[in-house]
Amino acid sequence: MKRLKQHAIWGRGSFILAAMGSAVGLGNIWKFPYITGQNGGAAFVLLYLVCVLLVGIPIMMAEIMIGRKGRANPVDAVANLSAEAGLTRLWAIIGWMGVLAGFLILSYYTVIAGWTLDYFVSALQGKFAGLNGESSNKLFNELLANKSRLVQWHTVFMALTALVLMFGVNRGLESVIRWIMPCLFVLLFVLLGYAYTTGEMATSMRFMFSFNWQDLSWNSALIALGHACFTLSLGMGAIMAYGAYMPSTAAIGKTVIIVALLDVLVGLLAGISIFSFVFATPGIEPGTGLGLMFVTLPVAFGSMPMGALVGIAFFLMVILAAWGSTMSLLEPAVAYLSEHFGFHRISACLMVAGSAWILGLGSVLSFNQWADQQILWGMNFYSCLDFFTTNLLLPTGGLLTAIYAGWVLKKELLDHEMQQDHPRLLAVWRWLLRYVSPVAVLAIIVNLFYPIATRFVAE
Ligand code: TRP
Repeated sequence: MKRLKQHAIWGRGSFILAAMGSAVGLGNIWKFPYITGQNGGAAFVLLYLVCVLLVGIPIMMAEIMIGRKGRANPVDAVANLSAEAGLTRLWAIIGWMGVLAGFLILSYYTVIAGWTLDYFVSALQGKFAGLNGESSNKLFNELLANKSRLVQWHTVFMALTALVLMFGVNRGLESVIRWIMPCLFVLLFVLLGYAYTTGEMATSMRFMFSFNWQDLSWNSALIALGHACFTLSLGMGAIMAYGAYMPSTAAIGKTVIIVALLDVLVGLLAGISIFSFVFATPGIEPGTGLGLMFVTLPVAFGSMPMGALVGIAFFLMVILAAWGSTMSLLEPAVAYLSEHFGFHRISACLMVAGSAWILGLGSVLSFNQWADQQILWGMNFYSCLDFFTTNLLLPTGGLLTAIYAGWVLKKELLDHEMQQDHPRLLAVWRWLLRYVSPVAVLAIIVNLFYPIATRFVAE
């Protein structure tokens, strides 16, 4: 049985910061604002909150519980726990899928995070000055067409991520996260303060929070649910891996509630600032999709008073957010290789990050040379990877985690590991984990694959 001989343990407060670092990422700052705009504003936010509360929080608690009880990387943690409970070790598939999903997501996440590095440098060089919608679009397309620039930033981001993890959990991950999270929050509040001075904060809040029931569809509910899981980094063992380093004295439930609420708050505050900038700029619309952050916002930064500085602060914030997320995508695989096979952490980092880097080249090409190369169902390489990880691997991981912790493991085991939490909270948690989370997550999977399956049958 592979258990950490001398496992690292987080210092006080570090688990919360690391879990927040994982949770807050491109999902909050880039995706959340625009899907809220597309799906009915406040009605969508409300739905998303319900999903976080009823599905996200219970699964996150289960992941931490498994990681902490198993005290190892996700694969061995589940294997240890299963052996102890007299179950088949096949359950370790949860850990396996997680390590794989993390690796696959990492490969393209650093490509997109690389764009934010490029934009940060452009902001420093004052390149946004005087941009309009058209020239901003051109700037973005030039970046996407430039393979060597994309590869360069992809490399830098991957190297930054690997470098931190090479130093280990305490000296690397923990010490870096203790710096970047406070900086991220300071930047977020500076941006919010500036957004207030634009005078458009009320318009922005109206845009994000007015109830538009007609824009809300059954599909929006599933988008809200999928995003709730993605933003909390669930379904792939990232939180499980971090849970393995959590002190046994910490209350899991309380910690998770704090992490989830702060994560939601970052999404909301980032959205409010972003739309304030957009509404304060004449001639641009709150764009939807990819373009919001990389096309629309630079126009705003190029015309607002002190916009150059705001742009620098904004892209720095996104870089920090993405960095905390990539660390959590890499950690499960690195922990697995070093604990299970005895590799030195440095070699483990080089192997995993190196292979993810190579795979990432496929995503780089998906934005230019291979853009129209359809691999499956009209999707190119990058879209395929994104689709299968976010829509299949992550929900399946979440589903199995909920079933394993809710139905398979004995109640006494859960109670023992969660004894710092209030019994009533635990009762509610277990009920949600057994009856609500699996059904909800299954709905995401069915909703996505049913139309595809029926199309094939019809053909
Ligand atoms: N939560 C991050 C975001 O919102 C992304 C992320 C990091 C993630 N680690 C994860 C998503 C693990 C799913 C699983 O950008």
